[in-house]
Amino acid sequence: MSERETVLVTGGAGFVGSHFARIAADAGRDVVVLDNLSGGPPARLPSSIPLIVGDVGDRELVTRILRERRVGAVAHFAGKIQVGESVQDPDTYFDVNLVRTLELLRAVRDQGVTACLFSSTAAVYGTPERVPISETARREPINPYGATKLSVELALAAWSAAYGLRWSALRYFNASGAHPDGTLRENHEPETHLIPLALDAGLGVTAPLRVFGSDYDTPDGTCVRDYIHVVDLASAHLAALTRLELGHTLGPLNLGTGAGFSVRQVIDAAEAVLGRPVPHSMSPRRAGDPPSLVADPSAALTALGWRPQRSDLVTIVEDALRSRTTTRGAAAHSA
Ligand code: UFG
Repeated sequence: MSERETVLVTGGAGFVGSHFARIAADAGRDVVVLDNLSGGPPARLPSSIPLIVGDVGDRELVTRILRERRVGAVAHFAGKIQVGESVQDPDTYFDVNLVRTLELLRAVRDQGVTACLFSSTAAVYGTPERVPISETARREPINPYGATKLSVELALAAWSAAYGLRWSALRYFNASGAHPDGTLRENHEPETHLIPLALDAGLGVTAPLRVFGSDYDTPDGTCVRDYIHVVDLASAHLAALTRLELGHTLGPLNLGTGAGFSVRQVIDAAEAVLGRPVPHSMSPRRAGDPPSLVADPSAALTALGWRPQRSDLVTIVEDALRSRTTTRGAAAHSA
């Protein structure tokens, strides 16, 4: 990219999107954020990053941004992310995550944007037959959220074949942590994720944590997940963007560490970092939770020349805690 060098970050006021916008801008990229703020106030991004309040489904607006800002690549994070909610309200999930994304992709095609990064998820695999999970594992989402993300991946592959779009779908495992300077935090509305809830319970600002299931076929009976620091996710996106701009198409890539930790181990880490207990109780299983989700990240390691730097569990929890005690009101509705 030369004259068209801006990166449009949809959902850039959300958790992962804001970290990508920040890290891309810190790396010298020209970034513009489009976010409809449907999940609350925007993340505290530097004022040098323009925020346009609007929807990715507004093709006229997106077309104008792509043209006027000379956008060369789109990083698409905007979307709804709650598994449980997607089961209750698939209509909204297919509308926001798929229909509006198609409007975005039409504008991308019509304006000749050549590269698209997409925020995807391990939920495309459903309940895996085995872990660690590689990209070639069966993709059988068990909820509408995962189905919408997989649908967009299929659309991107088709856009690539027909219109020459270069793309990568980054399938996140458990995005967690926060920027180490404490300015950006994980704050979904409502918050459903384990690490922020465990920290808030330990800080006494919310009710005791409920541990969803202790009778899984895992070493300590609680679910196992692959926690990946959001700054590592952001740097993987930046590496992927560079490769797309060099003319490669990457397709789907798992972003995880390859190491799994149980809910019990996460609570232990939170207690160690906080220096006090995390009040919790055992609860029944949560619907739709696979026992174990751990990435085989080798394709991403090779394709991106990327290594997670901050994804050990203690660093993740420390960074998450710093952001929870130093920021207020920064919310995220997007991935
Ligand atoms: N958990 C609890 N109590 C809570 C919250 C979570 O015990 O109050 C448990 C869950 O049952 C799960 C683990 O903690 O076993 C992690 O749960 P999260 O809600 O933090 O994350 P998920 O694994 O459910 O989902 C996340 C993303 C999804 C993505 C998935 C892929 O939110 O979008 O990771 O791994 F698909």
